[in-house]
Amino acid sequence: MSGRRRTHEREQEFAVAMMDRLEMPADDKILKLSIMFNGDDRPGKIDLGIGVYRNARGETPIFAAVRQAEEKLFAQETTKTYVTPAGDPGFCAAIQSLVFGDDAPDERIRTVQTPGGAGALNILAELANLASPGVTVHVPIPTWINHHAVITEARLGLREYRYLDPRTGQVDFDGMMDQLGNAEPGDIVLLQGCCHNPTGADLGLEQWQAVAALLEARGLLPFVDLAYQGFGDGLEEDAASVRLLAGRLPEMIVAYSCSKNFGIYRERTGAAFVLAPTPALADRAAAQLARLARITYSMPPDHGASLVRIILNDPALRQIWKDELEAMRTGVTALRRELASAFHQITNRSGHEFLTDQKGMFSLIGISADQAVRLREEFAIYIVEDGRINIAGLRGDQVMPFAKAICAV
Ligand code: LMR
Repeated sequence: MSGRRRTHEREQEFAVAMMDRLEMPADDKILKLSIMFNGDDRPGKIDLGIGVYRNARGETPIFAAVRQAEEKLFAQETTKTYVTPAGDPGFCAAIQSLVFGDDAPDERIRTVQTPGGAGALNILAELANLASPGVTVHVPIPTWINHHAVITEARLGLREYRYLDPRTGQVDFDGMMDQLGNAEPGDIVLLQGCCHNPTGADLGLEQWQAVAALLEARGLLPFVDLAYQGFGDGLEEDAASVRLLAGRLPEMIVAYSCSKNFGIYRERTGAAFVLAPTPALADRAAAQLARLARITYSMPPDHGASLVRIILNDPALRQIWKDELEAMRTGVTALRRELASAFHQITNRSGHEFLTDQKGMFSLIGISADQAVRLREEFAIYIVEDGRINIAGLRGDQVMPFAKAICAV
């Protein structure tokens, strides 16, 4: 037998042992769209797929505050040695205070720096499985597509609860409360703190109060995903949900992303927060989170977290950042108004107010997967097949052409 043939047979043997058993995963519907968009050479193409902010020139700019923080970091940094699995304590303290505010039960909250919001979701899901193997997580219909994958990969149970009322574009609050009212004590409820992805439909403060009361009464644990603080009603307002829950409940876990509100998407910066009934239990949960981080990626990346720490701890830079974020928030709100008005002009009908009522980058525009494909093929407009549009990806001059294309399909 020739050496080459033997090698070939060996390869086959190994393939049968492992690689051959792998299935090709389904495409991620959001990421696939970005790849297709980049490969499309039609002029005037519009990308409303992945959730990134774009300015009037269609660019995703680096915040001026981030640039300045990078200069400071470059001048100050003396080493690239490891951080710890829990990350940079300065970042953790600053981000905890940004999210939980001044009146938080800080003695019961612990923070671990993570690679983006997805890193936080993962170690928190693992933590939940460690504490209650296979516990059921109730997720809204619909929710960010990665939530399902994170929960099932962590071997947790998944049940869905009604969230969006497609007729009104608002939260189906009665339906949600009704279904959560049947959750078993000890179950987990996934909630999005603000700027719900993909619907843009958020709970009002009174509704959050009612949710908190239900969680408390039934012994349910909130698992909050807060990825858009500052893009809805403002930095403080968007954290009100988390603060309200923290003020009332014994336990909570929160996944946080700095990708959007600091514009540092590729720097993979986020945080996992735990709120525990006692300081000792908070320490234990944080130690477990650090252990899970160590197993998964050992240490989080440092660069983005250092920038956030520098910005939040420097009053002048913090103000520059807040102003930039506020300009983005008001820009997206204005685009929502312009889009609603464009639909109104074209159709001469009302019914588009949901766009101005909803918050943050996303809305579901109410078109089918086939219509989304037509938009892509006929108009070079890329939106997620569930009808989600990233309004923050639209330039002012694209509003009318976009609205016309939607009406055409
Ligand atoms: C989105 O929903 O588009 C963003 O959260 C980006 C992502 O990773 O999917």
